[in-house]
Amino acid sequence: MLDQKSYQEINNNLENYYRSNERNMWRNNFHIEMPFGLVNDPNGLSYYNDSFHIFYQWNPFGCEHKTKHWGLVTTADFISFTQPKVVLKPEDWFDKDGCYSGCGLVKDDELRLYYTGNVKGENDQRESYQCVATYHEDGTVTKKGVVIKRQPDGYTAHFRDPYIFMKDNTYYMLLGAQNNDLRGRVLLYKSGDAEKWDLLGELNTDMKDFGYMWECPNILNVNEDKCVFIFSPQGLECEEFKNQNIHQSGYVIGSLDLEEVKLKNHDEFKELDMGFDLYAPQVFSQDNRNIMLGWIGMPDKDVEYPTSEYGWMYSLTIPRVLEYKDNVIYQKPLEELRNLRQDKALEVNGLICDNYKLNLDSRCAEIILNLEMSNTKLTEIRFNFKGEYILLTYNKDTEVCTIDRSNMHIGGKGVRKFKLKAPKELRLNIFIDNSIIEIYYQDGLEVTTLMYFPKEEQLEIEIKNDNKVKINELSLWYLRSVKYE
Ligand code: FRU
Repeated sequence: MLDQKSYQEINNNLENYYRSNERNMWRNNFHIEMPFGLVNDPNGLSYYNDSFHIFYQWNPFGCEHKTKHWGLVTTADFISFTQPKVVLKPEDWFDKDGCYSGCGLVKDDELRLYYTGNVKGENDQRESYQCVATYHEDGTVTKKGVVIKRQPDGYTAHFRDPYIFMKDNTYYMLLGAQNNDLRGRVLLYKSGDAEKWDLLGELNTDMKDFGYMWECPNILNVNEDKCVFIFSPQGLECEEFKNQNIHQSGYVIGSLDLEEVKLKNHDEFKELDMGFDLYAPQVFSQDNRNIMLGWIGMPDKDVEYPTSEYGWMYSLTIPRVLEYKDNVIYQKPLEELRNLRQDKALEVNGLICDNYKLNLDSRCAEIILNLEMSNTKLTEIRFNFKGEYILLTYNKDTEVCTIDRSNMHIGGKGVRKFKLKAPKELRLNIFIDNSIIEIYYQDGLEVTTLMYFPKEEQLEIEIKNDNKVKINELSLWYLRSVKYE
């Protein structure tokens, strides 16, 4: 069982890891990940005591989806982090099979952590308890116990991932849920003191038949009358340009009517990431910025991630600022990440060519690429790893972008396709880490996140066009690694 000795061992192993410089070649440099165990959803994201608190789902004992704890790293600048530590342990009757996802709330100078206690009852029957704990400045935690005992009638025990927001001095909590017809839903609760919660009801939306479970709901206001409802629906049907992963994460924009418990006039669901590996993102606010982190990984697809062989699995995305414009959300890499840049290693402006090759010295880099599109129809960007490659193509006429991982030997494969308009200029901001590539298209209108597991260290990037094009900008920076101190 999880005795004090096992936790002591975790602490020792963490210390040893950060003391030694030995790193597996797929270890990432600027994405948050754990030295060992399995990480999934970001949790409890908060700005508290002048630093960002990033909690996350963590099984520190192995690479299986079990014994979920909350881990924590804090940072003031997203460059230097505290070393990870275990904060919530699944050791009470109401959370004994997992301290599942939830949110943070700063109230009365305290940081409260709301989470779902997962319990396997008789015959492995699932029970879900919504719980609260107080995180103290000295890093200790006091569990306060259960605030919502069970799901209301009409819903199954798939009832989890509390997310709290405030409106007119009242607290509201969203909870991911599944109704008895096995359809994904979200429930809304209300509280005056964030302790006693009353059910307002199911949030009424136009998405009546939209997957079998909605995980990790979030909400953020973008202006007086519009809000963005972010969630991770499971079981949507795959379409040619949409929903190509097994589960999705995305949003709808509408007007939240708290009295009618309704998301009014909302538009269609839009995925937050068109790549292979983003799930269960969480958003929080700091200084008028809405900052999002997501899990780089995918439920029910563990076999596609070979790092379990080395005792660790999954990472979190770089922090992304969400900006609302023209009724969509743009995702921008958090500005602080510019401080990771070393001197500019390459700058090309105005070169006209149809083929450009770039050899990278390390897979810890940021690239900005802006291509003039007037003369070209087809653009290809190949990430070559000695005999293996990832291929990004963009067809300006059909407005289709594809990202193809089928020529990699190890790990997840396949193709993802999405629509993208780039009539004049194709603008990419590419973050390359040892086993993660995040690409931001057209100033963050679309993003693709993927994991890749090359056999060789070396990376060459080849930019090809069907005609001569002008490279308006090609900039390359090698990035520093973030530190855990
Ligand atoms: C999403 C999720 C959440 C749950 C947590 C358990 O990835 O399934 O719904 O709380 O992970 O680790």
